[in-house]
Amino acid sequence: MNLKDAVAIVTGGSSGIGYAIAETLKEAGAKVAITGRHRERLTQAEQELGVWATNADVSKEEDVKRVFAEVIEEFGHVDILVNNAGFGVFHELVEQDRESFEAVMATNVTGAMMMGREAAKHFIERQSGNIVNIASTAALRGAPRGTAYYASKFALRGMTECWRAELRKHNVRVMLVNPSEVVTGFFDTAGLPQQVNETKLQPEDIAHAVRAMLEMNDRGFTTELTVFATNPRD
Ligand SMILES: NC(=O)c1ccc[n+]([C@@H]2O[C@H](COP(=O)([O-])OP(=O)(O)OC[C@H]3O[C@@H](n4cnc5c(N)ncnc54)[C@H](OP(=O)(O)O)[C@@H]3O)[C@@H](O)[C@H]2O)c1
Repeated sequence: MNLKDAVAIVTGGSSGIGYAIAETLKEAGAKVAITGRHRERLTQAEQELGVWATNADVSKEEDVKRVFAEVIEEFGHVDILVNNAGFGVFHELVEQDRESFEAVMATNVTGAMMMGREAAKHFIERQSGNIVNIASTAALRGAPRGTAYYASKFALRGMTECWRAELRKHNVRVMLVNPSEVVTGFFDTAGLPQQVNETKLQPEDIAHAVRAMLEMNDRGFTTELTVFATNPRD
């Protein structure tokens, strides 16, 4: 697709990978709408990137519906949904509390589903559209302390396959991106340390991959793309 004047919604566009995707799509000429929960961070991103922003929590159904109504009101239609909003908690199974498990699922799975559902209704009507789900290499295999986060990304990967099977006949391309470790605020939010050095992936590396997937001619699409750092050091 040609990104010039395409309308994109990027959830969690106020920081990290979502911010870089919003920046890259904007540079490519797209009209970009970002969402996030913390207003201050969102407003800062809105001003820095010159994108349109709305304060919204993807785990809240009324927020999800409002995002689509507002973006369609502002830009007329939507061409691209990037389901990027997400976070993790990392506990051994025997310490995993129900509350934080369900909170991860509410954003990473239910939130992505509701955004995807509203996008799909619009895309089916238009017989055109693109959904890019940002999963993780955590969607590909398990690991200790991965119960909540890894399960959420496995679920997102599973939903991606279902949506693709349903939506291809409507000319909707449903794609999955699996970043391995990227230098963002993700680890801080999860209460984990992250060693930062120049060998690790940066958000713009993932944004580059997303842009390339979207810019492919509409006759085809990359179903799933996994991005590794070449030789990361900790
Ligand atoms: N960093 C990595 O190593 C890595 C690797 C693989 C995959 N990923 C995935 O990449 C995505 C982006 O993560 P990141 O690394 O860029 O982390 P980040 O810097 O913490 O960004 C997360 C973004 O999501 C937003 N967000 C979180 N919960 C939300 C909700 N319920 N509704 C709306 N927005 C919400 C945050 O803003 P607010 O808090 O203000 O809402 C923020 O803008 C996530 O899905 C993550 O799982 C990250």
